[in-house]
Amino acid sequence: PTQLAARAAYLLRGNDLGTMTSAAPRLYPHMWSWDAAFVAVGLAPLSVERAVVELDTLLSAQWKNGMIPHIVFANGVDGYFPGPARWECRRLAANAPEGPDTSGITQPPVHAIAVQRILDHSRRHGRSTRAVAQEFLNRRWPDLVRWHRWLAHARDPKENGRITLYHGWESGMDNSPRWDRAYANVVPGVDLPPYRRADTAIISDPTQRPSDREYDRYLWLVEQMRRANYDDFQLTSVMSFAVEDVFVSAIFALACEVLADIGEEYKQPHSDVRELHGWAARFRKGVAATADERTGAAKDYDVRLGRWINTETLAMFAPLISGGLSRPAERALLNTFEGPRFCGHPDLRYALPPSTSPVAKDFRPREYWRGPVWPVMSWLFSWAFARRGWAERAYLLRAEGLRQAADGSFAEYYEPFTGAPLGSMQQSWTAASVLDWLG
Ligand code: DGY
Repeated sequence: PTQLAARAAYLLRGNDLGTMTSAAPRLYPHMWSWDAAFVAVGLAPLSVERAVVELDTLLSAQWKNGMIPHIVFANGVDGYFPGPARWECRRLAANAPEGPDTSGITQPPVHAIAVQRILDHSRRHGRSTRAVAQEFLNRRWPDLVRWHRWLAHARDPKENGRITLYHGWESGMDNSPRWDRAYANVVPGVDLPPYRRADTAIISDPTQRPSDREYDRYLWLVEQMRRANYDDFQLTSVMSFAVEDVFVSAIFALACEVLADIGEEYKQPHSDVRELHGWAARFRKGVAATADERTGAAKDYDVRLGRWINTETLAMFAPLISGGLSRPAERALLNTFEGPRFCGHPDLRYALPPSTSPVAKDFRPREYWRGPVWPVMSWLFSWAFARRGWAERAYLLRAEGLRQAADGSFAEYYEPFTGAPLGSMQQSWTAASVLDWLG
């Protein structure tokens, strides 16, 4: 284990560009929002100071409306598409920041978790490290609250406790079967400007990445956003893709609770803490309201089609992260999580949750979010379960996650049955998960 931790630390060092850590060396050579938060979780046990720098870089790219963009582009680094020239946020979006180039969409709000891990680790150190963490919190507290306020307002204008997304990339689970119906409604215009993918030049096996058809739709949504100048209000009507993401909503409920706890402990303004508690309650309820009464399984909602999205994917388990189910429903949902449709499937190499159930008809064992096991998701569930007081469950996910990671590839995702590493190797957030588990 110490050797594995050393390799993980070495990996993060290798991906360190100075003030940001690239999500992965070749496939993702920039900073991704939720990757950065997980990277900060992994950096915290190595260096609280460096973890703070990571979040500072991300927050320096925060938009004027409060949005944290899904990509902060590294200066002068090529090889990723769509890059700054395709997004053109600075030219088109009134809310884009002055500083770094960014994308024009957002990603799941896991950042409060990173802040908490940084504060936790700082307490193990002397006064000067504690002061660094405390100063960071005081300085960035208003930005963190602004970020949450933007999500609660701009992305839940009807206050039903669920976050609306306008691009599958915003879910972080780009090509999950969750979005298949919604994407069927996205019809790329004949005026979609031509483009060339960069990802498939790096991952040469096309079965591990989204298809070209899927990419056309991804780029068409970017085009629709550009034409709306990335304006929050316009997006609500012009986007051909609009879904309420139950998993992101659960993460948000949890993050609001975590941030409220931090605010209380570190004496931040009462009014902020009260607001955060309010959002936590609203979203916990919003998530629970989607759940089947008997099975506890949650669902997404397609705003454009006006119908619920039922899939056997990680999204079902959203209420395990945010809470709010009745006892029997929660027990049923835990049984599904641990049973033969997910972690307890008899042919799995490790008892870890696959992104899509191996018994679902849409399951593809090698294809990105359609089946593979994502270590960072195993980490998220284990952390959330520990917080909910399920120590044994958290411990099992950690043990299995470490067994999977022992191959040393730090892959982005793994084939559930064979355990083969897939996608990008040397993925920063995979190393970060390992570091936190061993930290
Ligand atoms: C990609 O490029 O595949 C990312 O997931 C989109 O942010």
